[in-house]
Amino acid sequence: MKIFLDTANIDHIREANSWGILDGVTTNPTLIAKEGKKFEEVVKEICGIVDGPISAEAVCTECDDIVNEAKALSKIHKNIVVKIAMNVEGLKAVKRLSKEGVKTNVTLVFSPNQALLAAKAGASYVSPFIGRLDDIGQEGMEIVEQILTIYRNYRFSTEVIVASIRHPIHVVQAAMIGADVATVPFPVLERMTKHSLTDVGIDRFLKDYDKIPKK
Ligand code: E4P
Repeated sequence: MKIFLDTANIDHIREANSWGILDGVTTNPTLIAKEGKKFEEVVKEICGIVDGPISAEAVCTECDDIVNEAKALSKIHKNIVVKIAMNVEGLKAVKRLSKEGVKTNVTLVFSPNQALLAAKAGASYVSPFIGRLDDIGQEGMEIVEQILTIYRNYRFSTEVIVASIRHPIHVVQAAMIGADVATVPFPVLERMTKHSLTDVGIDRFLKDYDKIPKK
């Protein structure tokens, strides 16, 4: 499973990238707004750090405008994937963009039917938001399983990005059911590295190493 970082924070992106496990980055307007810098500046900086797909979201709402915005975003860097919100105008735009070779990530997906339509329109990626479904009492990971089954049944090449991840168990579940990508907030990625028994074990080995005669 590929691991993307779900953030626009440059320090976190640099740090995670230095671990050698990062495959890409997803951003959204909310994440970029937190950084207090211009949209394009942030996106360019991320593209200069991580050599992998970088999602940048289009905010226009009509098909023609989305297509124009997406083309402009895709010119920022070869690795740009344009995030497009799931609705009819978004689908029409994805169809046109896929014919022109612009990579797309259909976002704000909350049902398998939305994911089916996104794949039929030619989306490169689809992003089911599982945490937001969990928040309203619906098992988010269930729709990921359904989407994966549908995509496998019909051999769609659209990749499934498990998004709106809240904790490390979400990442394990995503990997167990064979999702293509998990996009993970930095604090969750940090928690994935840790186990209390690892810390205790390292501490004991270091103490015991000191007891070994050196001469
Ligand atoms: C994914 O592409 C989104 O940016 C993100 O996962 C949304 O997560 P949230 O529900 O925590 O805002």
